[in-house]
Amino acid sequence: MNFITIKTILLFSFFSLFSVIVRTQSNEYPIIPVPAELVPQKGSFTLNDKTQLYFQNTMDSSFEEAFYLFREHLKRSTGFDLPKANTNSGKNIIICKLNTNLEKDEAYKLLVSRSKIEIEAKTPIGLFYALQSIRQLLPMEFEQTTLSTSTKWNIPCCVINDAPTFVYRGLHMDVCRHFVSVEEVKKYIDQIAMLKLNTFHWHLTDDQAWRIEIKKYPKLTTVGAYRNRTLQGHNNDYPRVWDNTRTGGFYTQEEIKDVVDYARKRFVTIIPEIEMPGHATAVVASYPELSCSGGPFDVEGRWGVFNDVFCTKDETFSFLEDVLTEVAALFPSPYIHIGGDECPKVRWKRCHACQQRMKDEGLEDEHQLQSYFVKRMETVVHKLGKRIIGWDEILEGGIAPDATVMSWRGIAGGISAAKQGHDVIMTPSEAMYFDFYQSSLHTEPLAIGGYLPIERVYAFNPYVKELEPKDLKHILGVQANTWTEYMPDAQHREMMVFPRVAALAEVGWTSEKNKDFDSFAIRLPKLMKRYDIMGINYSRAFYSVVGTAINDGGLKLKLSTIAPETSIHYTTDGSDPTLSSPIYREPIPVGEKEMVVKAISVKNNKVMYIPYERSFIANKAGGQKVVFENADGVRFEQNGSGNLTDCTMGGRPVSRPDWFSYAGTDGSITIEFEKLTSISKITFSSANQNNVLVYSPKSINFLVSEDGTTFFPVGAVWHQQMAAAKGKAIVSFTPKKVKKIKLEIAMYGIIPNTEPNSGEMSALFVDEIIVE
Ligand code: ACM
Ligand code: ZN
Repeated sequence: MNFITIKTILLFSFFSLFSVIVRTQSNEYPIIPVPAELVPQKGSFTLNDKTQLYFQNTMDSSFEEAFYLFREHLKRSTGFDLPKANTNSGKNIIICKLNTNLEKDEAYKLLVSRSKIEIEAKTPIGLFYALQSIRQLLPMEFEQTTLSTSTKWNIPCCVINDAPTFVYRGLHMDVCRHFVSVEEVKKYIDQIAMLKLNTFHWHLTDDQAWRIEIKKYPKLTTVGAYRNRTLQGHNNDYPRVWDNTRTGGFYTQEEIKDVVDYARKRFVTIIPEIEMPGHATAVVASYPELSCSGGPFDVEGRWGVFNDVFCTKDETFSFLEDVLTEVAALFPSPYIHIGGDECPKVRWKRCHACQQRMKDEGLEDEHQLQSYFVKRMETVVHKLGKRIIGWDEILEGGIAPDATVMSWRGIAGGISAAKQGHDVIMTPSEAMYFDFYQSSLHTEPLAIGGYLPIERVYAFNPYVKELEPKDLKHILGVQANTWTEYMPDAQHREMMVFPRVAALAEVGWTSEKNKDFDSFAIRLPKLMKRYDIMGINYSRAFYSVVGTAINDGGLKLKLSTIAPETSIHYTTDGSDPTLSSPIYREPIPVGEKEMVVKAISVKNNKVMYIPYERSFIANKAGGQKVVFENADGVRFEQNGSGNLTDCTMGGRPVSRPDWFSYAGTDGSITIEFEKLTSISKITFSSANQNNVLVYSPKSINFLVSEDGTTFFPVGAVWHQQMAAAKGKAIVSFTPKKVKKIKLEIAMYGIIPNTEPNSGEMSALFVDEIIVE
């Protein structure tokens, strides 16, 4: 045996040993987020009606308060009271000790032995977090609201030394697009506290509603909290369909105080967001004098970005100061979020007051006017003893001196802000938008678009590699955002948040070196069982079948799931797969005949998620090499591969999966056949969905080459022809033997004056090139 094989075997056994440890540990200690250090020990501690509780006398009453909820919860499901002990010397005891040597306020140590549990914390929050870990080590029946008499309340022995990586770990919820009741908000606070998240970002105002009672401006809620109609279906779908029911709701200041107090007891800070200067339709519908044009306006029933924003006249600033004064008094949070995103400048450009403001203040353009607006509001917020957070648009035109930035349009804003010495919360849409689809199935309930399976949430590291070490201290942490346009009810919202929020928790808490998706994937189903008991309608997309077209001696479909201990059963004859359908073992040849592959994931003889389904169009381009050239533009990541020769059409509308998309200069697409192939027809399939800036090309020249270098034209198609043929360009010709085909694409480019969205850059969405 040579050295290399020995090394390989050693390495291999190290890895398999490692994975056994990961599996055992993750099974027995399924804590999410995974603790910084956890050393398993033999045996377990058993809670019973004799178990006592002891607070070391140097702890003050705030520690006992931090214990209160756990004790109440425990009483419900176990019936045990945890009577207070007089000394710490006995057995069957939980001892809480103050440890001022712990570095971080949220840190804790936990020792579970057969005879006692010891918790060390520096602050009540550390104690609270130790109890969340104990909770997840207890049998899941702990989550019941009724007594479970048959459960043995064992906690596996261990030593835990734990602290978070990031100080800011947040979940955001938009309660404007759809109203979220106080009760539901509290449910989110319960759940994020269990996962050691510490911030709830309450998005309280937007175009579609104003949700917080402001005593000085009653119309904000009598008018602004209600709308007369709500768009149904996707914002990009035409013709529009409306639900004409008047809907709405708001929180009284008493309710807000109640929620804030509820959160405080769970060590969750609530950051209120009051949007400005954009997303203000509900305000100007209530007080039209705060707009540039004077209105009148309706509270908006569509989704998107709207032009009637706050005017920059003095009345607006007095109004906002009054509003924020009431807001600041309600929320103990050190921050107020002032929005700042997506503020169109068209009204300001034509407004006398706004133009005068620019002159008076020496502002060069409307971006600087926005910056002026935010800076002026920052001084108001400072006067109220707080600091501002804003979305990354607040960088435009110059950032306010003390602002914290939420980087949502990717990570660039966060990097730039950190470089300028500003604090940053990373919440990039591609990793942290819980309104995106969770699987690539075309049958998932309607979402805004995008693709964010749980493993992508998990993979995000807020310390993005583009940051310089000196700037890392500005990265306070991470947040996921729940925009609710397409989440009309509580059940739907839960499905979008859970369990992705568990991955978020580990991103915020766990250091990069301790993150391990395989271990998370073992712990997650145990959390899901708790969710079952708690009645949380979590998504099972974690179990979805994922299909990837590969070229492996012809086009093949590879099926997989990220969930452990899951098998895949499939059919290729159009029938619905069942437990007795063949088990998937290797990639399935596709593309040689019309076929549909359907597949289910199965665990313990149960079908785990809605079936995967993908239709393949037989054609000669299937699996052949494609090259896109001249790509000096923006590629949009679209749910699915965007592969042009995978024999799969894109979902429609284009917010659905499987598109190749691009905005930029003219380009070409070349398909190279493995061998000389006789062809007589080429179909280029694109989307022409102009309302969302998606345009078929201006023109396409189709060329073919027998030797791979010299090309001959075989046809050309113009935009009008494609528009009339639902985005398709088809050329037919006498059969030719070819090595390559090339499509020279003239992009539609800037949208002309005659069309909606004129002046904007159009995008090209192509799903497939079919060759016959
Ligand atoms: C945002 O998603 N408009 C912050
Ligand atoms: Zn104005």
